[in-house]
Amino acid sequence: MKILVTGGTGYIGSHACVELLTAGHAVVIVDNLSNSSPRVLERIAQITGRQPAFHELDVRDRAALDRIFDAGKFDAIIHFAGVKAVAESVADPLKYYSNNVYGSLTLFEAAARHDVTRVVFSSSATVYGETARSPIREDAATAPANPYGRTKLIVEQQLGDLCAAGSEWRVAALRYFNPVGAHPSGIIGEAPQGVPNNLMPYVCQVAAGRLSELSVFGHDYPTPDGTAIRDYIHVVDLARGHLKALEYLERTRGMHVINLGTGRGTSVLDMLGTFERVNALRIPHRFTARRPGDTTETYADAARAAQFLGWRTELTLADMCRDAWRWQQANPAGYV
Ligand code: NAD
Ligand code: UFG
Repeated sequence: MKILVTGGTGYIGSHACVELLTAGHAVVIVDNLSNSSPRVLERIAQITGRQPAFHELDVRDRAALDRIFDAGKFDAIIHFAGVKAVAESVADPLKYYSNNVYGSLTLFEAAARHDVTRVVFSSSATVYGETARSPIREDAATAPANPYGRTKLIVEQQLGDLCAAGSEWRVAALRYFNPVGAHPSGIIGEAPQGVPNNLMPYVCQVAAGRLSELSVFGHDYPTPDGTAIRDYIHVVDLARGHLKALEYLERTRGMHVINLGTGRGTSVLDMLGTFERVNALRIPHRFTARRPGDTTETYADAARAAQFLGWRTELTLADMCRDAWRWQQANPAGYV
């Protein structure tokens, strides 16, 4: 297949491109490089032996998108492009509505003009909101607690309405839980700008000595060790889920919302302990207050992904910790 990958130089998109190229698909990446480096392209080629086509563009640029669609027919789109920082979305909601909602709308309009009606969309478990009970099934109520989550839900709804209006549309909205880790080669990985917000990249930077210690946010949660529980998923497993979703859309019409998680909960201390054990390191840490807006426990019910896509995660928490640290060591400052 020939696949248009928006946001393909980003963290998850780059891993998906590796899997797509390895499976023999043709890949065209569009990305405005607002949160990624063009060096990713050589790295993808280093792993796969093939360099994907790349166009630097913003998905809000209608004319630029038309030129890409005019140049050759795509079988499907995987739409990763978007902005993703929860706190920033609270401070600057218009940036989120513009990139995520308007950007998606512009992309889907261009796709419709060119009869491309298969879409895999990067959604998030954040659409479930703070009160959902884990394991969370896809039919749980949605109640995003911040503008970022609302933009993801609005795009899901755009896609659902499109599928309801025209039987040719085939869409998988994949609700990711907590993607972590890196390609096992250590050649591509997550390269956050500035001080990381998320647990795994923060732990890696403490391990590397770039940050002095980890603050564990909250030690009084009603969980076995008092720290909050998440469903960490290896980014390579996640990337493979996108290939399975493309295959699923070959045989199924309409709108499908599917969780991508392991179905297992891991506490902050479990994660730290595993990281220390597999990498033979000590991570200095101290307990601090809960982070506002954090849930106690969020993990997926992963049954639908298994049933619809025939996909299950294969990589372990130990793999996530080992691969994240390998990438960090080989690329202490990211893609420089
Ligand atoms: P990322 O920032 O590494 O990748 C996103 C890419 O999109 C970047 O390369 C960025 O330059 C590009 N981009 C942003 N706005 C654009 C625009 N208007 N036009 C063109 N390109 C644009 O993020 P990621 O972690 O790889 O996330 C990919 C997708 O998955 C995002 O949509 C994100 O919301 C979603 N998601 C991520 C997580 C996570 O924890 N990483 C969890 C759930 C969902
Ligand atoms: N944590 C710490 N210290 C840190 C960073 C995180 O203790 O320095 C804890 C958090 O309190 C939380 C857990 O580690 O309990 C995981 O935190 P992350 O920030 O890595 O992930 P979240 O589950 O909070 O958020 C992620 C994405 C969001 C998305 C959300 C729901 O980053 O974009 O999942 O899908 F909205």
